Amino acid sequence: MKFIAVAIILCAGYFCETAFAHPRGEWTKLILTQHWPQTFCSVNKCTTNLSYWTLHGLWPNTGMRCNTSWHFNTSLIEDLIPEMKEYWPDLLAPSSPEFWKYEWTKHGTCAAKAESLNSEHKYFSKALELYRKYDLNSVLKNNQIVPSEENYTLDQVETAITSYYGVKTKIQCVHPGKGGQVQTLGQIEICVDRDFQLIDCEKSTKEIWSNDIPAVLVSGQSDLSVCDHSMPVYYPPVPSRS
Ligand SMILES: *[C@@H]1O[C@H](CO)[C@@H](O)[C@H](O)[C@H]1NC(C)=O
Ligand SMILES: *[C@@H]1O[C@H](CO)[C@@H](O)[C@H](O)[C@H]1NC(C)=O
Ligand SMILES: *[C@@H]1O[C@H](CO)[C@@H](O)[C@H](O)[C@H]1NC(C)=O
Ligand SMILES: *[C@@H]1O[C@H](CO)[C@@H](O)[C@H](O)[C@H]1NC(C)=O
Repeated sequence: MKFIAVAIILCAGYFCETAFAHPRGEWTKLILTQHWPQTFCSVNKCTTNLSYWTLHGLWPNTGMRCNTSWHFNTSLIEDLIPEMKEYWPDLLAPSSPEFWKYEWTKHGTCAAKAESLNSEHKYFSKALELYRKYDLNSVLKNNQIVPSEENYTLDQVETAITSYYGVKTKIQCVHPGKGGQVQTLGQIEICVDRDFQLIDCEKSTKEIWSNDIPAVLVSGQSDLSVCDHSMPVYYPPVPSRS
């Protein structure tokens, strides 16, 4: 009795909700994160000629580094490598598996708590499948949001994405330094539930906490934050090569 009373009192807040909603610490949502290679490389000083959005990761909304003894092994995803290289490239070190290893250790081992993703192969192939299925590249293009020296308003970008997916996504930009007047489109997050169906990325303000996994890149550097409505959005084209 006493315990229940205490539990109810303590239960008013966020922590309790989390504790009871996910009794085994299981995730409820996956965040499919894609970045724009030109923006990534302008921040991280790499070069790329890729002109499509590539995968950054598939992140459960709870947990990080859930099983550090579950080591990444490239030979388990041999059949996926060609597609991984194309759609999930390590922009900093294109021929290395480091990026995949990092994502597996940090996020994959947590995603793997669900039976549907409980192997390295299931995790990476599901990420590729969702990437193809929710085809962000086509969604933007079909809505006339293409890389350009012209700027967009955030409304234009948001409307294009939201009108297709019908759920809230998270659109992130690199914000300008002092005096700058334009933000650069960098990363877009699309969320799915445990059945891999689209779901709002931020259902309620309460959820922002658990959801807000910092977009730490392999280099440990990130200048990304949610784009804001007060500034034009620049979607940088691939520099033409002469
Ligand atoms: C992009 O760069 C790669 C490697 O340098 C090269 O093989 C490829 O042909 C280039 N693609 C385009 C469209 O320039
Ligand atoms: C962690 O991964 C290792 C290697 O796959 C596995 O043997 C072990 O059971 C896992 N531990 C947990 C708690 O899942
Ligand atoms: C990686 O997986 C392969 C295929 O299952 C296996 O033969 C090999 O021993 C594994 N390597 C490591 C380091 O665990
Ligand atoms: C994009 O926006 C910036 C900041 O407002 C402005 O300086 C620049 O001229 C704009 N570019 C174009 C092509 O309108």
